[in-house]
Amino acid sequence: MTLQPTNQPINQSANWQHIDTTQSDYFIDYLDTATAQAEMQRYKQKTYDLIGAVPGVALLDIGCGTGDDAIALAQRVGATGYVVGLDRSEALIEEARRRITDDLAVIFAVGDSHNLPFSANSFDGCRVDRVFMHLDDPQRALSEAIRVTRPGGRILVRDPDWETLVIDCRDRDLSRRILNAHFDGAIRHSAIGRQLYRLFRQAGLDHVAVADTSTLVLTEFATADQLYGLTDAAERAQAQWPELHDPIEAWLEELQQADRNGQFFSAVLGFTVVGCKPISLS
Ligand SMILES: C[S@@+](CC[C@H](N)C(=O)[O-])C[C@H]1O[C@@H](n2cnc3c(N)ncnc32)[C@H](O)[C@@H]1O
Repeated sequence: MTLQPTNQPINQSANWQHIDTTQSDYFIDYLDTATAQAEMQRYKQKTYDLIGAVPGVALLDIGCGTGDDAIALAQRVGATGYVVGLDRSEALIEEARRRITDDLAVIFAVGDSHNLPFSANSFDGCRVDRVFMHLDDPQRALSEAIRVTRPGGRILVRDPDWETLVIDCRDRDLSRRILNAHFDGAIRHSAIGRQLYRLFRQAGLDHVAVADTSTLVLTEFATADQLYGLTDAAERAQAQWPELHDPIEAWLEELQQADRNGQFFSAVLGFTVVGCKPISLS
């Protein structure tokens, strides 16, 4: 029996860097499924607090996707502040603009996090959620976020660490092999979550802290398959290790059977790191 993908694969991270209109429905659906998870909502709300989203401040959401976070931030900063959502994808920026329903001080712009189209010290804070893992050069993007933030302002980056994805199954060795090969192949910086603290320290930010950690537990195979590409992972592993074709197929079937029995379990860690731009960098 050949494995039939139940959804489009996450594919290479290059896709997250160049999302055109032909693929945007898939990515919008992916982001909406992720955002709908209670734990995602919890950590996102916390990032709004940590970045200092209070009336009157100017904030930048880098890699804003469909714009939901920028809109939520705009609701907090009110008419006396403003929020800019920036994303490389024109298709996602169009979707973000469609999602503005109220009279909010939010604008959406197409741009690259490696070369932000803003002058120095333009914002009170910059937020970057689930973007660094896809970038060519996260260090450069962090420097850019620091440049456009005013001295004393906050920078916040949040990313998962894909090597922490655990799934309850019999053959844990095989599972680790499948998942690590998949995420190392599909995500440019699959272990960025654990590296953020070091990147912040190396960048010379003040008051650097891992201010929040999140554990996203998914107990439905279909949702995990959509967000993690488990079917795609199995296919990738079968192509890489043809001699393991049958055990890999059994792995995927075991997960689907666990789901039918109401026993599917997966969990992955995410890290939110914050720091302040030193006053000396004015
Ligand atoms: C996983 S999505 C996260 C979207 C949003 N931050 C959220 O949490 O829902 C990654 C986003 O980063 C954007 N992106 C990828 N490379 C980028 C770059 N070089 N500059 C700006 N945005 C980029 C993608 O278009 C996509 O919207």
